[in-house]
Amino acid sequence: MAEVGIEVKNLNFSWPNGEIAIKSCSLEVPKGEFWMLLGTNGSGKSTLLRLLAGLLVPQSGEIRVLHPIGFVFQNPDHQLVMPTVGADVAFGLVEEKLPPAVVRARVEEALGAVNLLALQKRPIYALSGGQKQRVAIAGAIARRCEVLLLDEPTALLDPDSQLDLVAGVRRLVKSRGITALWVTHRLDELNYCDGAFLLEKSTLVDWGEAQRLKQRMMEVDDEVS
Ligand SMILES: Nc1ncnc2c1ncn2[C@@H]1O[C@H](COP(=O)(O)OP(=O)(O)OP(=O)(O)O)[C@@H](O)[C@H]1O
Ligand SMILES: [Mg+2]
Repeated sequence: MAEVGIEVKNLNFSWPNGEIAIKSCSLEVPKGEFWMLLGTNGSGKSTLLRLLAGLLVPQSGEIRVLHPIGFVFQNPDHQLVMPTVGADVAFGLVEEKLPPAVVRARVEEALGAVNLLALQKRPIYALSGGQKQRVAIAGAIARRCEVLLLDEPTALLDPDSQLDLVAGVRRLVKSRGITALWVTHRLDELNYCDGAFLLEKSTLVDWGEAQRLKQRMMEVDDEVS
């Protein structure tokens, strides 16, 4: 049987006010594959990603995700906490108590992987949105993440930077055998993934080949407009 990077069975999650956010959700992402998660606003995408990362606890169901997990938030300003690029990537390694030389090597390797080595000493405030997202991804790479969860990482980017980021992340995760799940609203990004899931009103309604899902979503767009 193929190895699995992310596996969820019969997952149910409600908020304290009783509102159901994820209903009987089951899904699998094979190890080393790059999948996307689609759905309208409020369908439960961010909630599902937070459940996978262990940031929320479900009422019932099973979650198995390879560790360590890297998480990239929609707004990188919410996760970059140190003053410079290099210091921020190194910060994620603090708990591992590695020797300084190992930390330096890991930081350089991770920044090289996202093409930011030249900006190692740059203050975070002097980066573009796309560069900040790449610093957040480098943080996950430095921690040697097995699974990378990305919540609308291109939401703040222009169309060129958006496609650069998705193509770059695809190359990166494929070369390292990382399993990735990428939340997006932008259908052109589907050209870069191995498969996709569609959430509607807390329920997983479709999944599989990305181009078929893209077609389905374009037909929905046509009906609306
Ligand atoms: N902290 C919270 N407490 C209560 N309800 C919440 C909380 N966070 C989100 N919700 C509700 O859960 C549902 C799913 O929200 P979620 O953020 O997962 O949607 P989403 O698919 O990520 O939407 P978007 O595309 O806008 O990011 C929504 O109805 C939302 O209002
Ligand atoms: Mg969201």
